[in-house]
Amino acid sequence: MQACTGAATPKIMGSIQYPCTKISINPTNCSLKGSNNLSFTDNSIKISKPISRFSFVSNSLVTGRPPSSVSVPAPGVQDDLSSFEDNELSDADPEVYNIIGKEKDRQFRSLELIASENFTSKAVMEAVGSCLTNKYSEGLPGKRYYGGNEHIDELETLCQQRALEAFHLDGQKWGVNVQPLSGSPANFEVYTALLNPHDRIMGLDLPHGGHLSHGFMTPKRRVSGTSIYFESMPYRLDESTGLIDYDMLEKTATLFRPKLIIAGASAYPRDFDYPRMRKIADAVGAFLMMDMAHISGLVAASVVGNPFEYCDVVTTTTHKSLRGPRGGMIFYKKDTIFGVDLESAINNAVFPGLQGGPHNHTIGGLAVCLKYAQSPEFKAYQNNVVSNCRALASRLVELGYKLVSGGSDNHLVLVDLRPLGTDGARVEKILDMASITLNKNSVPGDKSALVPGGIRIGAPAMTTRGFKESEFVATADFIHEGVQLTLEANKLIPKTKLQEFLKFVASPDFPLRDRLLDLQRRVEVLTTQFPLPGL
Ligand SMILES: Cc1ncc(COP(=O)(O)O)c(C=O)c1O
Repeated sequence: MQACTGAATPKIMGSIQYPCTKISINPTNCSLKGSNNLSFTDNSIKISKPISRFSFVSNSLVTGRPPSSVSVPAPGVQDDLSSFEDNELSDADPEVYNIIGKEKDRQFRSLELIASENFTSKAVMEAVGSCLTNKYSEGLPGKRYYGGNEHIDELETLCQQRALEAFHLDGQKWGVNVQPLSGSPANFEVYTALLNPHDRIMGLDLPHGGHLSHGFMTPKRRVSGTSIYFESMPYRLDESTGLIDYDMLEKTATLFRPKLIIAGASAYPRDFDYPRMRKIADAVGAFLMMDMAHISGLVAASVVGNPFEYCDVVTTTTHKSLRGPRGGMIFYKKDTIFGVDLESAINNAVFPGLQGGPHNHTIGGLAVCLKYAQSPEFKAYQNNVVSNCRALASRLVELGYKLVSGGSDNHLVLVDLRPLGTDGARVEKILDMASITLNKNSVPGDKSALVPGGIRIGAPAMTTRGFKESEFVATADFIHEGVQLTLEANKLIPKTKLQEFLKFVASPDFPLRDRLLDLQRRVEVLTTQFPLPGL
């Protein structure tokens, strides 16, 4: 791939290559504004290639390489307005091209701390952007409803094998379905496979760190589809320790007698006590499922406990700590449990139960990701995620913050801001204005879901960009500055509603604007020293 020359190239990897593949080769088109900042100078783009109306066969994946060397103009179609103009994105749709450029620039500058996000690789993106997207292949390898699937079969089989290898599983005992479109559909597919409508389930409550798809409902509304079709009763944290209250789970499970207990969370900084959960599930005759979406990369690298030793089914997303394309997987024991043959029940729930044709481009990207997940580099990356997160947590504690559970064993920390007299929504906004991206999050004891009392901070994304412990200490200091600015802003308009606060801080007259801009500048000086992977 043609890359820009000059100092910017190593810093921004794929990001700078993206616009450069489209433009006449002139390094000034990819300019650095200021010292470290990448900007897309869209108005300087020159189209160097004539628009082609053709059918072509390229021997490569969609890498951005001009296909002109193998273009074969289809005879007689030059003037046919209905023919297919296969132009590159910047020619075909400059509006979308420019939006992608702006998003890439935002990702490059931001201090990305959303615990569920990551930066996937160029190789994964190449597979996801390939011809695999064209193919229908309903069914499983060797059992398809359409023809022409010999290569898709090979790909999906390879992806399945790699999935089992990446999680150190014996293919005699475990199987995997790699077709789920994402995490929530994967979970619903498991419920559909194992349960009858209105069977009972127990998952960690959403305000205590669980996920919507584990059955969230409020007193007024069955919010998640899971709680509409199944009867859900949550378990929670012990508010005095911030740890899962397994005693309460045991007591309530004994009364409620769920058919499924779900381990896993979206905002829980500690590991799960799988042996204890298995014991509880066995005592009440329930399946035990782990949704390891957040920590699947850590599980693959064996830096946290192994859910496969204790669970019947394990689901995951593939785009969080695993760092693959946006998708999902379901691992199942090859056993019959409570009269359910897990393999056929789960495969049938995926297709034809809830999905149609698999997203083969995603499965291609996933296969690439799962190959990498077996490498020593991936293990080192996951170790860094955990050590970086610990460094972040320690610095925040040093600065006086209260962390839910007091620290972290995994990739995220949860900060309780209520002792400071502010909330996650206000801090999230101020940090966002300083190019620090994280999310407000409820903490145990919160009254309002809209204005929760905490923030969730994750280490996977910036660790991918090369941050080490010292940069995570600096990150904690930046967050602290943002929190201090939030407290000062609160004093300027005391006792306002959130909406008024958001309007106040976004106005050009916000008195702390210059200090916020200075914080943003320093944040971006740090982030832009670290390359952004991908196309
Ligand atoms: C634990 C857990 N499970 C499932 C999901 C849902 O994944 P998706 O957004 O891909 O549907 C999430 C998303 O954040 C999650 O945190």
